This record gives sequence, structure tokens and C-alpha cells, in this order.
Amino acid sequence: MLIRTPQGWACRPSEITPEGVYLSRRQFLGAGAAGLLAAGVPALAEETALYDAPPAAEAPAWFAEKHPGIRWAAVVPEGEPVTPFAAATRYNNFYEFGQDKGDPARHAGALVTEPWTVRIDGEVGKPGVYELAELVRPHALEERIYRLRCVEAWSMVIPWLGFSLGELLKRAEPTGNARYVAFTTVMQPEAMPALRSRLSLIDWPYREGLRIDEAMHPLTILAVGMYGRVLPNQNGAPLRLVVPWKYGFKSIKSIVAIHLTEQQPYTTWQALAPREYGFYANVNPEVDHPRWSQKRERRLPGTLLRSNLRDTLPFNGYAEAVAPLYAGMDLRRFY
Ligand code: MTE
Repeated sequence: MLIRTPQGWACRPSEITPEGVYLSRRQFLGAGAAGLLAAGVPALAEETALYDAPPAAEAPAWFAEKHPGIRWAAVVPEGEPVTPFAAATRYNNFYEFGQDKGDPARHAGALVTEPWTVRIDGEVGKPGVYELAELVRPHALEERIYRLRCVEAWSMVIPWLGFSLGELLKRAEPTGNARYVAFTTVMQPEAMPALRSRLSLIDWPYREGLRIDEAMHPLTILAVGMYGRVLPNQNGAPLRLVVPWKYGFKSIKSIVAIHLTEQQPYTTWQALAPREYGFYANVNPEVDHPRWSQKRERRLPGTLLRSNLRDTLPFNGYAEAVAPLYAGMDLRRFY
């Protein structure tokens, strides 16, 4: 299966193989190269490559069923290599596991991701609690290569595997009162040191929210994998939100509840520091964080000699697709 990034807004095909992305012979053979060739699929067309991700030790059955393990990068953003897997999985924010960027990789192995259920309720005609496999099964998994811009002014380019949040919400039949969507992360105090700490400032669980039109937008996905494999725990296994035009903190990890509501929902960072983190959190180089500029970003991984600074783009480069959602709004006020 050759998966293409779906529409023009994502990124244009590149004829170069980006650094950090290469063919792993073992993965390629494991993925059934012979079968692909027999089917006439150009196995190593110039624009394709496999990622540098090690296969997951054991992918759950529902994942293997949806995605048989073939890793193709059909397109990458022009001039923006895909971030090496090692950087994307060892430099993380997942505060439940600690504040150091290495803490999620160190501790998230203890997260129990199977069995996993997701509750969908609130302003919907069909509320329910779904086993993850049941939730994912009706959806096609697509690869989306998106920029992820953290509010802390670093960024990465990540190949997600996911499906449209809007399609999932439609199945739940939102009522006319559904104006917002609230998301909640799992609470596993045994696995998550910050939930046991008296010093933690966050009122757990981690919560996030979107306006309904943002949630229904075709760019918004729920990811179950990255780099052609199941999501590593530190990146939000088994189910996380990805909203590429917003600062990374909106992309809530390890989701267990999706609640449609009439009121703008409580969100973790807005509650913690409302002057610093707004509900909208659209990437905007013109609106500085009170303590630092948002004009530029450090594309990871950098080196001591190469900090890899680049200009931050309005809406993280997705303005054409999403700016109309905010027509007439004062983006300095609604930051
Ligand atoms: N989700 C939960 N549950 N807890 C968190 O601390 N951090 C957010 C977001 N989702 C966070 C979370 C922040 S600040 C960022 S930048 C992204 O996850 C980081 O995603 P990554 O680690 O996969 O790069």
C-alpha cells in the first residue's frame, strides 16, 4: 500500500530522499516486498523511502490488521526532512511522566495501553464506550507528514498514521448544541510519577479542547501510529490528537474521553497560566509568548554547530487551509 499525503495543503512531493529517512532492508523484506513487486507497485520509486524506525516489539492485533507494516514515505515537506525517529521519541513533552524531555522515553514504558477504551459522550446522538479496535476499525489509516511546532519554539516533522477526527465525530452524531470538543488523557498513577507527586502544579488529568469546526477540519487527525509503526508510549499511545496548525500542547496524548459540549471546555495549560497559553493556541509568529518570541523556531535535531533556526510560519504553514476558520477574529486577543 502506497500511502500519499492527501491534499495540496500538506506538502508537495519531493524527489529527494530526506536525511533521517532510509530503507531498512529487514523492515522492507518483512513488509512483503516480493508481494508488492508482483502486484506491480514500484517498490523503490525515487519518491519513496522507508523510515528509520525500529518495528514495535509487539504491535496490537488491531493495528496489524489495519496497517500491515509497510512503511512508505511518499512525500515530505519541501526542503524539510522528516525528523529522525530517535529525536521524535526521545525529546518529548508528556508531563505525567516528568518535566525533563527525556522523562517520557524513560518512564512511559510502564503505561498500560491494552485493553484501552474511549468514551464518547455529551452532545451526541450516539454516546458510547468503545474498545480501541472497535473505534479504529471503520477508518482508513492514512499517513500525514506534519510539522509539529511546540510553544517552546522547537519543531519537528513527523509522519503520523491516523484517521480523521471529524469522521469519528460524525459517527457519534453531534447534536445542534455541540460547539466544542473536550479531550481527556488517561490517569494511571502507578505508571505516571507526576500524578503521585505533591509538587505537581497540574490539575490532572491533562485536558484539551477544540471548537467543533476545528475538530471537524480535515487536517485534524487522531493518530495511532508514527513512522509506519504503532505509536510509542511516550508519543501518546495508543491514541492521540494531532492538530498541526496549533502549538503542540493542543495535541493531547493517550486519550480516554471525548466529550462534545456547548461550553468552551477547561484546558490544562489555560487553567495553569491563562496569560501565557490561550484556548486557541494557533501558531502565530506575530504574537509572542509573554516570556519569549514566537518568530523563529529550532528544528530538531540541531547540533552544537548547527542550531537549525527557521522562521515560524503563520498557522505553522497551514494558513491556506485553516485561516478561514478565524476570519474576523482578533488573533492577538484569542491567542
Ligand atoms: N498530552 C498529555 N497528556 N500530557 C502532556 O504533557 N504535552 C503536550 C502534547 N500532549 C502533553 C500532551 C505538549 S506541550 C507537546 S509539545 C506535545 O504533546 C509533544 O508531543 P511529542 O512528545 O509527541 O513531540
